[in-house]
Amino acid sequence: MSFLDQIEPLQQQAVQDFNQASDLTSLDQVRIQYLGASGKFTALLKQLSTLTKEEKPAAGKLVNLAKGELEAALASRRSVLELQAALPKNPTDFTLPGRRHSLGKLHPLTQVTDDIVRCFRKLGFVVADGPEIEDDYHCFDALNTPADHPARDAQDTFHLTGPSKHLLRTHTSSVQIRVMEKQAPPIRIIVPGRVYRRDNADATHNPTFHQIEGLYVDKNVTMSDLKGTVEFVFKQLLGDEVKLRFRPHYFSYTEPSMEIDFSSPLVKKMGKDWLEIAGCGMVHPQVFKTVGYDPEVWSGWAFGFGIERIAMIRYGITDIRLFYQNDVRFLAQF
Ligand code: DAH
Repeated sequence: MSFLDQIEPLQQQAVQDFNQASDLTSLDQVRIQYLGASGKFTALLKQLSTLTKEEKPAAGKLVNLAKGELEAALASRRSVLELQAALPKNPTDFTLPGRRHSLGKLHPLTQVTDDIVRCFRKLGFVVADGPEIEDDYHCFDALNTPADHPARDAQDTFHLTGPSKHLLRTHTSSVQIRVMEKQAPPIRIIVPGRVYRRDNADATHNPTFHQIEGLYVDKNVTMSDLKGTVEFVFKQLLGDEVKLRFRPHYFSYTEPSMEIDFSSPLVKKMGKDWLEIAGCGMVHPQVFKTVGYDPEVWSGWAFGFGIERIAMIRYGITDIRLFYQNDVRFLAQF
């Protein structure tokens, strides 16, 4: 058989053998049979040198073409076999019955927060959010809190180092300002979030805890709206026997300001008649002026309360630190 006549049958045979190789090892053996140092195709290449000067160029071209095709066929077979090798030996049977794992639960603070949010949603409030790393302006100045107010004391506030004068927000009230800066009234928001104070951890204090802030601004908003709203929410959360008491207090961003005390059979169980539960009041006209609202047109109220406090009352928990220790024996109870 002439040299040129051998090329095509050999190529066809090789491709067929490649495609019949059932795994990577046998494919490699076939490769050696054809393309190895003493392989059949290599032998053909070697014969090139026996051709005449005239025959060589055309024959060389054909042989090289065939070699290229062989290599391509080899590579494509190899990738198929590699893919097969990567597949699991025993494929998963998804129809088998599953093993049961307990699903886990939401953290009690998350559950309480969700419940509070749900109550306020019924009244048309929406959730707003703001940064935990705040500046003096939003945490204090814009809330009408003067520079000599004890809340601004370095003993109470975590200040970040560096020239930016940032701090960890001590309350969620800063978000009132951020929302009013961006949005024209009417406003009806609640803000659940984490706050920070330089308290040492004991049974009732922790350097970080959670608050819910509320802000309602519209025309002709009155204190009775505030009382009605707070009463509705606490009854939903902690039962119909709940009693509330509003005591005069001072906050720089509300006038008048009040603290809300709370009483219920749950509180009695904790050995107390009343528990202080929230701060609130009518938004101070100066705060409205600072954010560019006309205090002659708009009125509003605000409140803030601690989420841990409410969770502790609800579940009869006496040590706040339990919320942060992530002990499954504790968490599994909720
Ligand atoms: N920011 C206060 C605190 O951390 C709570 C508070 C009081 C929030 C009165 C208010 C408010 O919005 O009007 O103790």
